[in-house]
Amino acid sequence: MSTMETSKDDALYEYPFELTDVPRLSFDDPQANRLIANQKPVVLTGTNLVNSALHWDLNYLKDNIGNSLFTVYQSKNRYFRYYEPRKIPQHKDFKPPTLQAEMNFSEFVDKLKECQKTGIHKLYLQQLLFQNIGERIIKDFISFNWDWINQQKNLNRWGPLSSNLLLIAMAGNITSVHYDEQQNFLAQVRGRKRCLLFSPEQFECLYPYPIHHPHDRQSQVNLENLNLKKFPKSADLEGMQAILEPGDVLYIPVYWWHQIESLPQNGVTISINFWYKVRNFLEESITYPLTTSQKIAIMRNIEKMITDALGNVDEVGPFMQSMVLGRYT
Ligand code: SIN
Ligand code: FE
Repeated sequence: MSTMETSKDDALYEYPFELTDVPRLSFDDPQANRLIANQKPVVLTGTNLVNSALHWDLNYLKDNIGNSLFTVYQSKNRYFRYYEPRKIPQHKDFKPPTLQAEMNFSEFVDKLKECQKTGIHKLYLQQLLFQNIGERIIKDFISFNWDWINQQKNLNRWGPLSSNLLLIAMAGNITSVHYDEQQNFLAQVRGRKRCLLFSPEQFECLYPYPIHHPHDRQSQVNLENLNLKKFPKSADLEGMQAILEPGDVLYIPVYWWHQIESLPQNGVTISINFWYKVRNFLEESITYPLTTSQKIAIMRNIEKMITDALGNVDEVGPFMQSMVLGRYT
């Protein structure tokens, strides 16, 4: 007999803006490589990138991942909006939207079971994979398809792999819309994820927090509840969408906005991020017109310079306004 739990309707939330599908292509399709080269998102099938991890589940990880500590975020709602702790002191009124705790893996599993039962909190484990990992997990890790991903890195002249992040989410968790300053292959291991993507051209529609704010790189817009009074240009949003299945790899180009939702199901989703540094574009030969991503990099640098020079985050807005108002507007 179906319970409330299992009969839960899996219908996806309907956004009031256009969403086109991210192309879904085999890893050896030349068009897939063209999209990556042109910094356009694509879902790749058949990469075998994390095939050696497709058997991972909570029990296997609990038995094999070792006894080190893992970072687990706890939220009172389904949103996990990232924040930078080092930027909190300049913002006395800032209240972190999630709690961060360190625990070993079996403590995480216990807490997870409790949260699944009570439904009061959501948990999201986000842990960089580098040390103190058990032998069998290391073996799985070494067996990732590094040949394929290294080839991509070289083909596209990316910098070195900076990190791998292990992500374990409860059903319904949402990583709020944001952009990263690195190239990212998001590999799906378990469960399904709904990914919304917006090109860097949508900067004005997504109203990122100031660079000095703990929520730097995050959008102030709530995509599930648009506030057109406060953020009128969010009415012009146009995005792309991909549903990731185990084995799929989503290329998230640097500076592309993304929001990731773990789709309702029983249990958890497991994913692994592969982040690659980008070369400083000023070191490359520059061609004009600049791309939007290059302009965003410049804007970030200038905003940071002004913030550092003024030494007071409250002066940044008025300073920039007097620089442009009536002169460049
Ligand atoms: C997620 O999968 O929840 C976040 C991935 C990302 O933002 O890179
Ligand atoms: Fe991200």
